[in-house]
Amino acid sequence: GKRTATAHLILNLIVVGLYGINLGVRSSMLSDPRIRTGPFVLSLVGICLLCASGYLGGRLVYDDGIGVGRHKRHMPPPRDTIHLTAPIPGADSVFVPIMAAQQLRERETLRVEIGGQIMTIAKIENQLFAFQEFCTHRFGPLSEGKFEGFNVQCPWHNSCFDVRTGKVTNGPAKVDLKILKVEMREGKVGVPLPRQIKST
Ligand code: FES
Repeated sequence: GKRTATAHLILNLIVVGLYGINLGVRSSMLSDPRIRTGPFVLSLVGICLLCASGYLGGRLVYDDGIGVGRHKRHMPPPRDTIHLTAPIPGADSVFVPIMAAQQLRERETLRVEIGGQIMTIAKIENQLFAFQEFCTHRFGPLSEGKFEGFNVQCPWHNSCFDVRTGKVTNGPAKVDLKILKVEMREGKVGVPLPRQIKST
């Protein structure tokens, strides 16, 4: 992600520089109707670099899900995804302890991945809630969302979901969120997951 974004930025800056030089060169020969090799080559190189940069920009948006945050959040978003292992077997599910959840502050979130399933853990009014990380509208990252009461607001297009039920409380999303129950077992906070979710 970061390397692609840096390459995208550098290419864009080079293209702006090239077009600036091109403009300077062309403005000095406005009265000459002939096509000059120098400015023509500069335009060609600029277009090629712009295509490469556009490709990288597309990868950032469509592969990495990077978008503009349209919200104001008071707590810092989680820096990393926590990858968990070591489930404690239960009757019909596996219980996965999430130790970091015990340290969460009010309205703070964690992004947790268990067996390929990515979820958000949030603390609201001293209770812990777990729900799917990606918004049902266009996959905005809900761990970076803003909280109003028990609603989480998606940072991308402001859809809201009730974290207790997963219900959409404000569009454009139309599909409810998948929620998970946060439980305390053997003194550990965690989530019970159906057995078909493979823990890594
Ligand atoms: S991605 Fe969440 S509202 Fe659009």
